[in-house]
Amino acid sequence: MFPAGYRRYHEPFLGSGAVLATLSPEEATASDTFGPLMEIWAALKDAPETLYEWYRERWELTRENKRQGYERIKASYNERPNGADLLFLCRSCYGGVVRFRKADGYMSTPVGIHNPIKPDSFATRVNEWHRRVQGTTFLHRPYELTMSEARRGDLVYCDPPYSYSQSILYGAQEFSLESLMASIADCKNRGVHVALSIDGRKKSGALDCELDIPDGLFERELYIECGRSMLKRFQMEGHSLEEEHVADRLLLTF
Ligand SMILES: C[S@@+](CC[C@H](N)C(=O)[O-])C[C@H]1O[C@@H](n2cnc3c(N)ncnc32)[C@H](O)[C@@H]1O
Repeated sequence: MFPAGYRRYHEPFLGSGAVLATLSPEEATASDTFGPLMEIWAALKDAPETLYEWYRERWELTRENKRQGYERIKASYNERPNGADLLFLCRSCYGGVVRFRKADGYMSTPVGIHNPIKPDSFATRVNEWHRRVQGTTFLHRPYELTMSEARRGDLVYCDPPYSYSQSILYGAQEFSLESLMASIADCKNRGVHVALSIDGRKKSGALDCELDIPDGLFERELYIECGRSMLKRFQMEGHSLEEEHVADRLLLTF
């Protein structure tokens, strides 16, 4: 749904960068307020061998006893949040869902039931992703700054914390959709195209997520089927999830 042509690509809520890496833009800015995450992105772009070593060292620690090794790495992360530990926790935690305690940000997800991928397989992915992000500048900062720098003819893709389902993730509790809508309006006024992913329908269509979307800001609204809820998969292991299909809303200013 992105326009056929645009100048610079901006992704101000980068997370795991699924869209950025698929797109592999020639010129882009990608940012997020989560510091340890941005350490991973910086290493991916400029020092892929460091990223590989971070993973290998931690994988070795879990070889004999996965749970014990994982808990050591988690304790190290919680003592001092950092990209190296986060990298391994993301790949080895339960359901791949990185969850933080509301009160103090403590990373609380238990170890996953799967075996984390081998270092060689990890290295193959690093090399592929390293290639895909060479045109991107990674920055640790709030979305407002990245959006304010976008210029006429640029494209911004926003995937902010979702208000309905992600209150345990990403610090979504404090997020103001109203402020984001103001930044999107500024972009639109400057001739910047904006695409926004946001809560759509949950419970296989039974729940429509009501959101305050200013009239006239978006030209198009689409629903994207996302399959079964990622969070519900995590919370309801072993249950049938036929009632838990999710559709995201995609809003376009163009
Ligand atoms: C829904 S996730 C993005 C997921 C991403 N599309 C992916 O492929 O993984 C939202 C992201 O927004 C970040 N975030 C939350 N508040 C923010 C803010 N005020 N400014 C910038 N990033 C923020 C979170 O750290 C999180 O990584």
